[in-house]
Amino acid sequence: MDIVVSGIRSTGKLHLGNYFGALKNFIKMQHENKCYFFIADYHSLTTHPTPENLHGSVKQVLAEYLACGLDPEVATLYIQSDLPEIPELYLLLNMNAYLGELERCTSFKEKIRKHPNNVNAGLLTYPTLMAADIIIHRAHKVPVGKDQEQHLEMTRTFANRFNRLYNVEYFPEPVAYNFGEELVKIPGLDGSGKMGKSEGNAIYLSDDPETIRKKVMKAVSDSGPTEPNQPKPEAIQNLFTIMKVVSTPDTYAYFDDKYNTCQIRYGDLKKQLAEDITRFTDPFREKIEAILADNKYLSDVAEMGAEKARQSASQTIKEVREIIGFRRF
Ligand code: TRP
Repeated sequence: MDIVVSGIRSTGKLHLGNYFGALKNFIKMQHENKCYFFIADYHSLTTHPTPENLHGSVKQVLAEYLACGLDPEVATLYIQSDLPEIPELYLLLNMNAYLGELERCTSFKEKIRKHPNNVNAGLLTYPTLMAADIIIHRAHKVPVGKDQEQHLEMTRTFANRFNRLYNVEYFPEPVAYNFGEELVKIPGLDGSGKMGKSEGNAIYLSDDPETIRKKVMKAVSDSGPTEPNQPKPEAIQNLFTIMKVVSTPDTYAYFDDKYNTCQIRYGDLKKQLAEDITRFTDPFREKIEAILADNKYLSDVAEMGAEKARQSASQTIKEVREIIGFRRF
């Protein structure tokens, strides 16, 4: 069985786009591989969260992933900072990571541009920490999107460099992994582009019905078609795309027909869409709330995950130390 590792950003609540994108993939792949999923709380320190924010968001993210169906009995679900082996491997990898290659990393350049007053060493060495996350379990596959391709390439560089330096074939070369064709891209509510938290166009799984209704009623639309059977403009297509995943086929067909015969009333469509989104997200919201209220369950899950993850991580560190030459007399 292949070993899969993926990090989950510890900030930000899950929205519909996350659910139909990455998350459904995770849920599916947990049964077909040996999966390690972790909440990347060390990585989040580059932005200096307060202790309360850090703790609160890790808890929220863990509860949301559990509510959506990541099964802690099937996958190994843990919190990154519970594994001291990760910073140890990070230190070792940093000794062979070059300033030039770290500085050339696109995500680093982007951070410098956006936050010139917070260019810290954690940001510069983000790719070595991510490499440590992945190769600590000697992973084969990493389910990440396009935006992480360069980080994954750097992981391969660091893994290969280690192998070459010590003349071993210890770390496999991890490759990107997803169920590409089955990924549904969920658009945002602002007329163009995809749903994302920074765009402020998202519906969160934890949103209450009233919030959902307000967001959907405000979604960008237009004055309606003037001729029958015309292609839909992007903003309208986006509403239909969301409808396709949350509403029944009958509902979708009904509004599609109204559109094609120029009888559509967007107010009606949005009202229906808001209701259907609510019906879809309600069970998630309830589960998230129940899990958040159950500290014992959350701490059991985190502890069990940390224990399973440390078995694999401590084995790797033991062997790496031996390879490097940290040996007993
Ligand atoms: N960099 C990833 C992101 O921003 C999160 C991440 C951290 C990650 N470590 C990882 C993803 C290891 C996959 C494997 O989404």
